[in-house]
Amino acid sequence: AGVNAQGARGLRFKPVAPNTADQVTIPEGHEQNVVIRWGDPIVKGAPGFNPDNQTAAAQAGQFGYNNDFLSLLPLGGDYERQQLLVANHEYTDEQLMFKAYDPANPTREQVEIAWAAHGLSVVAVQEDHRSGKLTAISRHRLNRRLTATSEFRLTGPAAGTDLVKTSVDAAGTKVLGTLNNCAGGTTPWGTTLHGEENFNQYFGNAGQVTDPTQAARLKRYGVTAGATERKWERFDKRFDVAQEPNESHRHGWVVELDPYDVNSVPRKRTALGRFKHEAAQPRLTEDGRPVVYMGDDERFDYFYKFVSSKQMKKGDSRAAKEHNLTLLDEGTLYVAKLTGDTPAAEIDGTGKRPTDGEFDGSGVWIKLLTSSPSGNVSHVEGMTAEEVSVFTRLAGDKVGATKMDRPEDVEPSPRTGRVYIALTNNTDRGKPGKEGATEANPRNLNKHGQILELAENFDDPAGDGFAWRLFLVAGDPNDPATYFAGFPKDKVSPISCPDNVAFDPHGNLWISTDGNQLGSHDGLFGVATAGERRGELKQFLTVPRGAETCGPIIQDKRVLVAVQHPGEIDGASVEKPQSVWPDGPGKIVRPSVVSVWRKDGKNIGV
Ligand code: FEO
Ligand code: CA
Ligand code: CA
Ligand code: CA
Repeated sequence: AGVNAQGARGLRFKPVAPNTADQVTIPEGHEQNVVIRWGDPIVKGAPGFNPDNQTAAAQAGQFGYNNDFLSLLPLGGDYERQQLLVANHEYTDEQLMFKAYDPANPTREQVEIAWAAHGLSVVAVQEDHRSGKLTAISRHRLNRRLTATSEFRLTGPAAGTDLVKTSVDAAGTKVLGTLNNCAGGTTPWGTTLHGEENFNQYFGNAGQVTDPTQAARLKRYGVTAGATERKWERFDKRFDVAQEPNESHRHGWVVELDPYDVNSVPRKRTALGRFKHEAAQPRLTEDGRPVVYMGDDERFDYFYKFVSSKQMKKGDSRAAKEHNLTLLDEGTLYVAKLTGDTPAAEIDGTGKRPTDGEFDGSGVWIKLLTSSPSGNVSHVEGMTAEEVSVFTRLAGDKVGATKMDRPEDVEPSPRTGRVYIALTNNTDRGKPGKEGATEANPRNLNKHGQILELAENFDDPAGDGFAWRLFLVAGDPNDPATYFAGFPKDKVSPISCPDNVAFDPHGNLWISTDGNQLGSHDGLFGVATAGERRGELKQFLTVPRGAETCGPIIQDKRVLVAVQHPGEIDGASVEKPQSVWPDGPGKIVRPSVVSVWRKDGKNIGV
């Protein structure tokens, strides 16, 4: 109520009201289609989806489970009206995938299906002539699946070191699989970046490690002490830390994929550090060097950037491509330290606005590691370069980086260069023994999260200092602690737990949520970041029961979202589903990608 279809250019739609409908609810005058579902065959030879007779071999050629990050890349020339969709498959929900699933005793086939349902998908999509509809093209020559058992290569300072060698990979360079790919990014040189996030959950028996240094490292990364939830360690010893102590060091990286080359081996870029990588979003310096912003999604963990020492080469030549595939192996990794400008006594943990009117201040980027083929340099006392690379969290601890409220996705504005960081929530802040509110993280027991706006000094992304302020303090607008960049709060949509962020062609920020604490479903929102309507947040869609909203992409003609883990409610199973999306009653619930467009054929939000 109070919000109309006027709005900033790009955001002129009637907002969707908060709701708990088991569907994707979109604004009036819009239409939608399901672009691709879990299990749809994409690779040549893959069979159609049959949930009652699923096999690992079938799954390895089908779209994976729990789609999160999405990227759309152009397919030019003869392929007009086609784009290449790249998707992350973060994790599996076995109870919602298998009938009569026994979590204490998974079968080998179930485990191998789960391995094949993790990873990445590349699938060409066909645009509709008249609308924003997209249709997956099965068996396209660029379609590809990468799973928990595909080959990946380690590059950068940790590659080939003792910390990443295993009994089957004495060279320490060849890793099988990518796990828990959450959000990601798209590079200006035509590759995609994928954050390996909660990799710790797949590795068990860390409690059996007796060496105190190693035990402390495993603990800092939350590697499972006993049996893991999925019991993979029973089926492959590399998931058993007691038997293969370094395998977990080979996960928790940023993966770079060249989706245009079906034969390319994706790289794990160790110069960018190892932590629970939510996302990795690059921008270029004025002289063409990529800078990648990255969050570590854990309560009280850090925010990072990597500044390449090499300039990107333009064009599609083979030489340019080969050069650009080395950009993320050479450069410097930094961690952020933020200082507020309001007296600490005023930050009382309630989110009450400070007397200077803003949660804001300055910050410094602290150098951790410089990577180069001529030698890697640690900037952290008492740690070698490879230790900083593999145990980056410990390096951040040593240099006193700022403990944030779960840094999720990040996106630099292509127009202003300002960087927007989603801090999703931190219900532990201010609890006994835990750090209390700070100006950048101003609420104790923070349920709803905030979005921080970071402006590099002199707009130089390679610099070592920045200014920051909170752009959005999420929650019910009637809650006095909330803040929408100063926009009148009776004219905005409620929002809780921001997770993924993206920009539209007009320079508006779009935010998807995960874990809404306001009693309604998660969804997607758009907000102006500049002009008179800065802070006018409007909800564009909501997702079905139990789902989070991921991977938003806003193009002129369409809004694309990944509906992740629909029906994921405690106690739900295939037999007792808590959602019937997308195919209705009696059909298995399937994580899927959805496209939304305007019925009148006009561009989104204009
Ligand atoms: Fe996978 Fe941080 O969300
Ligand atoms: Ca202030
Ligand atoms: Ca996320
Ligand atoms: Ca999340």
